Amino acid sequence: GFTKDGKEVEKQVTSFDPGFMNTACCESTITYIDGDKGILRYRGYPIEQLAERSNFLEVAYLLIYGELPTATQLDTWKERIMSHTYIHVTLMDYMKSFRYDAHPMSMFIATMAAMSTEYPESNPTLTRRDLFEFDFRARNQQIFRILGKAPTIAACAYRHRIGRPYNYPTESFRGYSYTENFLYMLDRLSESDYRPSPAIAKALDVLFIVHADHELNCSTAAMRHLTSTRVDPYTAVAGAAGALYGPLHGGASEAVVRMLEEIGSVDRIDEFLEGVKSKTRRLMGFGHRIYKNYDPRAKILKEYAEKVFAEVGRDPLVDIAVELERRAIQDEYFVSRKLYPNVDFYSGIIYRACGFPLDMYPLLFALPRIAGWLAHWYESLREEKSAAKASIPGATHVMRARQTYVGDIDKSFPTEEERN
Ligand code: ACO
Repeated sequence: GFTKDGKEVEKQVTSFDPGFMNTACCESTITYIDGDKGILRYRGYPIEQLAERSNFLEVAYLLIYGELPTATQLDTWKERIMSHTYIHVTLMDYMKSFRYDAHPMSMFIATMAAMSTEYPESNPTLTRRDLFEFDFRARNQQIFRILGKAPTIAACAYRHRIGRPYNYPTESFRGYSYTENFLYMLDRLSESDYRPSPAIAKALDVLFIVHADHELNCSTAAMRHLTSTRVDPYTAVAGAAGALYGPLHGGASEAVVRMLEEIGSVDRIDEFLEGVKSKTRRLMGFGHRIYKNYDPRAKILKEYAEKVFAEVGRDPLVDIAVELERRAIQDEYFVSRKLYPNVDFYSGIIYRACGFPLDMYPLLFALPRIAGWLAHWYESLREEKSAAKASIPGATHVMRARQTYVGDIDKSFPTEEERN
């Protein structure tokens, strides 16, 4: 190759890796996955222990700051987030202008992006202040706002979709968990006495924990890409949510429920599996790019599904799901390809049992994943700063992949006669 002033330079080697199957673009200390053994850990803690002994806000703290909080830190953290749950009335007015049947995820993405207009001090283009220069307090301020307001936006989107007035967050938030407040905003029946079912709030909390981060999945990679341009975090979260909205990423739990509804009864499972094996169908909720063993999140959710059913009544779809899983994991087709249930195999059934409409499923995935996106935002801003000091090549650059050009290389613009 040549430099701009014509000097010959050594040719650079570019690796060709479509789909980034084998390319790491950052170092991270947030989430560890061993796909062959079916292990998932946040900051070193097994997901099973976090699901059993922690709660979503504590896990969000762990993901973002790297350590479990002390009791005082946890109280302050919760207080800060829960006191940022109200959204500006202009944002509510903005949401009211959406079509009556707008998809909740589209409303969420648009409103999250619109949040950057409410907080111009977070916008480096307006302030001419590089996000690098954001101090600890300023970064935390954005984290509190995003985590605090995201469930409110999601609840307004839900209320909009069902044609009911939007609810405000609970005023007595100290007595409510993060997920309880979310459920309260979805369903509040009267000012004072509505309290969501503790069993459903707990199940949703566990769903939130297991969905909170999954290292460099597509939407988190999008978050890191956007962050590398130093755009404000509201726009970056909206962009990451856009990636999650795609049916190949955040849409699988919905596809599982549709598939189970279509199978309809246990005696039609074999016929369905024959279709899968002849490759006319795909067994949704099975298989994973990273896990070549049982997805540990699916195991946790299978157990929680039973707890939710004990509260709200058993969903007949779960019998089909359990039997479908039992037959598939003994079948040579699935065994030889290392196909096991993934997180979405049971999450959709739980959402359904809790009464969520199908079009809320991607949003129920996006809400907890915001904690992961913010952890990567926080880590990449900090890493960039230290990388700049250590002068690691590329680490402070805008993320920009290369391509292999395979088109024509030298053409002359044709005359009109030549074109016609
Ligand atoms: N049903 C039937 N066969 C499958 C399935 C499935 N769900 N998944 C993979 N296979 C087969 C493929 O046909 C292929 O068979 P072959 O070797 O005979 O051609 C083999 O298993 C390997 O499949 P790949 O597509 O190479 O696996 P990959 O790792 O790229 O795909 C994916 C992973 C996309 C998740 C896939 O397993 C799938 O489509 N699953 C169903 C959709 C789903 O549940 N997505 C949610 C993933 S979890 C999440 O996003 C949070």
